[in-house]
Amino acid sequence: MHTFQPMPTDVLEFNPFTKFGKEWALVTAGTKEKANPMTVSWGGVGVIWGKNAACIFIRDSRYTKELLDKNDFFSISFLPSQYREALAYCGSFSGRDNNKFEKAGLTPAFRHGIPYVDEGNFILLCQKMAAVRLTEDLFLTPDIKKKWYADGDMHTMYIAEIIDILAR
Ligand SMILES: Cc1cc2nc3c(=O)[nH]c(=O)nc-3n(C[C@H](O)[C@H](O)[C@H](O)COP(=O)(O)O)c2cc1C
Repeated sequence: MHTFQPMPTDVLEFNPFTKFGKEWALVTAGTKEKANPMTVSWGGVGVIWGKNAACIFIRDSRYTKELLDKNDFFSISFLPSQYREALAYCGSFSGRDNNKFEKAGLTPAFRHGIPYVDEGNFILLCQKMAAVRLTEDLFLTPDIKKKWYADGDMHTMYIAEIIDILAR
């Protein structure tokens, strides 16, 4: 078990473009009995409703969506670059038919009962505030539907309060 330090947001140096878009992250949802890590490269952090917040975008077909909808909390874990293969695995296989923690060689850990990835070096612990399914009628530019949703597998945007940040 790694030792983490809670990190105050005012000393945070964090590039959301490289962190999400290039390095990727693992969204972990579920419970102690069943937690599942899933790779994401879309997401962000900011402020909404007076809270430090994170946003993630999860398609209908993901097992992670079921787990997110059943639970109030989830985490976003960023891992050092040597775990790239583990992230690729968690982005290609579903937790519906796999224990992805085991298969990817990752370790589930819990804080306030929220599952996260122990190999992470930077973790956002999140509490859901809103879940917004992005439907076709909401898109304001014509190419979005064609480019991203030809198969109708829509994203839900989860907006969550960041209740704790762990770093080491
Ligand atoms: C680099 C990368 C980034 C991804 N980003 C997302 C994402 O932001 N949202 C999403 O719904 N799926 C994303 N995926 C796909 C899921 O990680 C993938 O479908 C996964 O197998 C779903 O796992 P689950 O069924 O256990 O939830 C990404 C995959 C990769 C490889």
